[in-house]
Amino acid sequence: MPASFEFEDSLLSRPCATALAGVKLRRIEAADAQAMATGLADFAVSRNLVAVPHPYTLEDAREFIAGPAVSPNMLCAAIEVDGSFGGCVAIDAQTGAPELGYWLAAPLHGRGVGSAAARALVDLAFAATEMPAIVSGHFFDNDASASVLAKLGFRRTGIVETRSRARGETVRLLTMSLARGDWAAAQPSIETARVVMAPPTLDDADEIALIAADRSLGLMTAAVPKPFTLDDARAFVLSAARRRRPESMTFSIRMRSSGALVGGIGWSAGEGGALELGYWLGAAHRGRGIATEAARAVLEAAFDWTGASSATARCRVVNPASRGVLERCGFQWEGASLVRSPGSPGAVAVDVFRLDREVFVSLREWGRSAVRGQRAGATTEPEDAA
Ligand SMILES: CC(C)(COP(=O)(O)OP(=O)(O)OC[C@H]1O[C@@H](n2cnc3c(N)ncnc32)[C@H](O)[C@@H]1OP(=O)(O)O)[C@@H](O)C(=O)NCCC(=O)NCCS
Repeated sequence: MPASFEFEDSLLSRPCATALAGVKLRRIEAADAQAMATGLADFAVSRNLVAVPHPYTLEDAREFIAGPAVSPNMLCAAIEVDGSFGGCVAIDAQTGAPELGYWLAAPLHGRGVGSAAARALVDLAFAATEMPAIVSGHFFDNDASASVLAKLGFRRTGIVETRSRARGETVRLLTMSLARGDWAAAQPSIETARVVMAPPTLDDADEIALIAADRSLGLMTAAVPKPFTLDDARAFVLSAARRRRPESMTFSIRMRSSGALVGGIGWSAGEGGALELGYWLGAAHRGRGIATEAARAVLEAAFDWTGASSATARCRVVNPASRGVLERCGFQWEGASLVRSPGSPGAVAVDVFRLDREVFVSLREWGRSAVRGQRAGATTEPEDAA
């Protein structure tokens, strides 16, 4: 890992959700200086940090915001809590291996905010960069931070003596590290007989771009921009990483047999508490029941993880294959509507489908036997995208 690891400016070009409602990560701004100075002036906070002085002034905050916070070697985010600046979380690669650090204003401690913020930045960084590992550490007497890092999967690598500027003394620091492989293994994934679905990372971008550039896919779907480029694929990965889990999730679909990426699938928060299902499959992989198999498993996970009482899906009226996928999952046609399609002039006509959780649950056993049937090659209907 070169000492000068650079983060693309686009990573925080839009806010990144965390698992907690009302808590998000965004770019740090000059206007945050006062709240930052107030938060870090509190010795209860600064005593746990290596480089923050005590007392901490407004000028210190301004210098940080205008300097290190905007360095390309530092991915630095404000933690926004209910619309106000609450603290910072950063991955700092200015002087060595990318290092995670975070702090939160004392009144916000103990509500899960620190854990949610740190997880969101780690997920974003691993998904949207190729960094092999993130290091971190905490002072021996900082149990809250020890807990945050342990929950993220960081492992102990050693103990060093480090000077704490605020304490004005040398303190034992427990050093920790999280390898990309350990992070990836802990990501939510969904498996079926033939496919494995996991949140996309930058490693997937080439294959996503290749499949999504397929003209037949572009013609049939409403949600995929046309023409689809490598930059679009990277933007797709980034936007997937910024979504609030589990309310909204995106997965790449890979064949278990070959490891090849064959499509994408996911859900987002729809109207009235319903989840909105969407998927697409590369042309070479249609007609073998893969979309149906993936959609059934994803619906099961989505209902389970979100507690939603129903799902909706939309597919273009000219897309009978996708309609078939939805019907085989138990969706029922509700009506038609018009949606905007990126890259297409005007709106496109779509069929709207709905599936109630109870209906899905009662069909599930039937669905499982259908999946077994597909394994034997029983399903031959063509499939496309919704
Ligand atoms: C570290 C910090 C960001 C944690 O944020 P937070 O929002 O308070 O943490 P969370 O609410 O997510 O809690 C994390 C865990 O620590 C535990 N915890 C919180 N405060 C604790 C305390 N004072 N003592 C022991 N455990 C504590 C929580 O119970 C939780 O554990 P759990 O998930 O097993 O229930 C925050 O305490 C802070 O800003 N501290 C000062 C700066 C700092 O220490 N930065 C990190 C330097 S390594």
